Amino acid sequence: MLKYFLLTALSVTTLYAQTNVVAFSGSTRNDSINKKLIAEAAKFAKEAGANVTVIDLKDFSLPFFDEDLEKQGMPEKAKQLRKLMMESQVVIIATPEYNGSISGILKNTIDWTTRTEKGEPSRDAYKDKKFILLSASPGKSAGATALAHLKSIVQRIGGIVVYEYALPNSFDAFDANGHLKDQQAENNLKQAIQSAVK
Ligand SMILES: Cc1cc2nc3c(=O)[nH]c(=O)nc-3n(C[C@H](O)[C@H](O)[C@H](O)COP(=O)(O)O)c2cc1C
Repeated sequence: MLKYFLLTALSVTTLYAQTNVVAFSGSTRNDSINKKLIAEAAKFAKEAGANVTVIDLKDFSLPFFDEDLEKQGMPEKAKQLRKLMMESQVVIIATPEYNGSISGILKNTIDWTTRTEKGEPSRDAYKDKKFILLSASPGKSAGATALAHLKSIVQRIGGIVVYEYALPNSFDAFDANGHLKDQQAENNLKQAIQSAVK
């Protein structure tokens, strides 16, 4: 009887446990198009019932990763961000393209969050989590090269990339309400997020 009760309670908890989503842009610029893309993705995740935390990497400003510095202790902000990622089942990242790759701040963030507080390598913030990877660029190429680099890094450290989308001509891609003007792209993103959250 007790076993039945415990199993039922476990299934109900599993069925109704809210999915935690953390979302951030690899650009800290105030008027960033990647932040706009993150805002839209976060809205879809909330609508799908997830518990969503959007962060600005500006608020998690970390020193350049350096193993000598690491020996003095992991920065508090790195601990906080890694914890947030470890507690999330879905991670959404939008990267700008800088000189054909991801931004320095994004790579630095990834490097810090792949370390433990003891200064050892760890994939706990990435392994087996679902990743939705995005890029936005004012150019026609849509930051696709940066997106490919980001995908390669995330997969290398154990993340499961469930959806990727590169948004071209991004300065003109959003309407006044922050929605993507390309209805097909908007629907695809919404569906991908709904299915990742469920
Ligand atoms: C250092 C630097 C390098 C850039 N290199 C590229 C590039 O390789 N490809 C590209 O499409 N855009 C490039 N851009 C333009 C960015 O896509 C553009 O500034 C974009 O608005 C950045 O994203 P954000 O709006 O989210 O900040 C570069 C911008 C900077 C500052």
